[in-house]
Amino acid sequence: MQLTENAIRVLQQRYLARNEKGLVMETPVDMLLRVAKAVAGAEVHWGGEAAVIKWQEIFFDALSQLHFLPNSPTLMNAGTPVGQLSACFVLPVPDSIDGIFSTLRQTALIQQSGGGTGFNFSHVRPENDYVSSHGGIASGPVSFMRIFNAATENIRQGGRRRGANMGILNVDHPDIQTFVSSKITEGQLSGFNISVGVTDEFMMAVERNAAWQLKHPVTGKVVKAISAQQLWDEIIYAAWSTGDPGLIFLDTINSANPTPGLGRIEATNPCGEVPLLPYEACNLASVNLTRFVTGRKGGDGIDWDSLEKTIKVATRFLDDVIEVSDHLFPEITTMVKGNRKIGLGVMGWADLLLMLEIPYDDDAAITLAHKLMGFFQRVCYDTSAELAAERGTFPNWSQSIFHPGKPMRNATMVSIAPTGSISLIAGVSSSIEPLFALAFRHRQVADDMELTSVNTHFLTYIEKHHLDIPEVIGPILESGVAGSSSVLPDEVRRLFKTALEIDPAWHLKHQAVFQQYTDNAVSKTINLPQGTSREAIDDIYMNAWRSKLKGITVFRYSSRQHHALYTGAGL
Ligand code: CDP
Repeated sequence: MQLTENAIRVLQQRYLARNEKGLVMETPVDMLLRVAKAVAGAEVHWGGEAAVIKWQEIFFDALSQLHFLPNSPTLMNAGTPVGQLSACFVLPVPDSIDGIFSTLRQTALIQQSGGGTGFNFSHVRPENDYVSSHGGIASGPVSFMRIFNAATENIRQGGRRRGANMGILNVDHPDIQTFVSSKITEGQLSGFNISVGVTDEFMMAVERNAAWQLKHPVTGKVVKAISAQQLWDEIIYAAWSTGDPGLIFLDTINSANPTPGLGRIEATNPCGEVPLLPYEACNLASVNLTRFVTGRKGGDGIDWDSLEKTIKVATRFLDDVIEVSDHLFPEITTMVKGNRKIGLGVMGWADLLLMLEIPYDDDAAITLAHKLMGFFQRVCYDTSAELAAERGTFPNWSQSIFHPGKPMRNATMVSIAPTGSISLIAGVSSSIEPLFALAFRHRQVADDMELTSVNTHFLTYIEKHHLDIPEVIGPILESGVAGSSSVLPDEVRRLFKTALEIDPAWHLKHQAVFQQYTDNAVSKTINLPQGTSREAIDDIYMNAWRSKLKGITVFRYSSRQHHALYTGAGL
């Protein structure tokens, strides 16, 4: 296997199985064999032992060539006593102490197994409201979020990394202003990403500068009216200050809800790429696009046949994961087996563009994204339809948008995950993000791990063009960007533009084109330079809604003291 030094460090520290003394007892190849074997075990239902052996080989072959990788819990847990393989869960938060603490217990156990959890806290009555059962005063959603956060801080996921939560509050909840500013002080709710659940009605009220009503979630009565613009400004100010809150566009999400008969979607998983109903879970995998570049420049430099084969294998792999995974609670098993949602996405998009010498901020990149993702989604859908013919449709199919015309095995198929860890294992750029920097440091607070990455395409390119002179390279690696280098030709600086140098409008264009072919959602962070204005973030959030995104997140460089990515190799 071709693994980078960083990949080996990450695998050893977090993924490879250990014995009771805590010593690593498998190699990366052993790990992938363990995963391929455990997942192919599902095939016994449809093809007996022969199918298990056949698919074990096919899965191992694809994984060991790093053609695709499943989400971390599958790599960590498949074939081990912790059989929970999904990264994404959504749990309900009812308006009762009993209900909230029962969800807290389930959250703790999900996170212990490596899963991330998302919640919408909008059903909880507001702070200072009357509680009739014991004559007390309600604490409100944000206060309960702090309890969930404390639980997360004390539970390492599978003992290996810190857990992640998504906390959502709808824009008409009376506590929305408290929620919006709940992360402004650094360190508060650090185990949560927070997002305001907004509706088209709210966005139009902001556009019209109209009044906005906050309503009691239980009685539906209007509690007060505020200016939509004022609330919007508070959201923008907080997002500018610290990166939180993001927005979740509830109407856009629900217009694509594949099972409207089962209720409205109110929440997503922690990084936003999977909108889910309460008690749903989803398992993810990502295709490593760099493996399908043929070497020709431009948009046709992709080996479409091999890509198609990998998408088919990965889709089948994810459907098999549902069979072999332990979903921990009966409510979750019912929902997961009923809808069979899976999320196949991509990683290495920025690297693929570099290999084809297409700048990220060029129309050619967007044109290629249309072609690639149109193809990607079509193959995922065709594979799910083929699996339905072989194995039957998902049980809730008759209540889905696919009924009656299109028998499908899975209620959703495509999801663009951040691939924060698995892209390190594959040694490629994460998800659809542009290069964060040509050299950068990842800081993982939870286990004190610091990794330095230098983009290999940059090194190869400058070597090929005889630009590998220490006086040129030194300052670039130190700062992480080539933009200010007076020696490099313009086209090189253009090609190797990094996240903070690329105009946010291009970040949005990439997110929007990938969303167009993604039935779940696209997780993307619009990384911005430190000097970005509030007005710029206002524009980004508005345009995100107009572009029919399902969610939006921004992060202004250094707006928090502790964050994950730092430009420059720190030489
Ligand atoms: O690369 P990896 O498979 O580890 O994960 P990712 O693509 O960065 O994130 C996918 C999902 O995994 C997130 O949306 C969360 O649901 C979950 N996750 C988590 O629970 N805890 C983390 N520390 C990171 C991700």
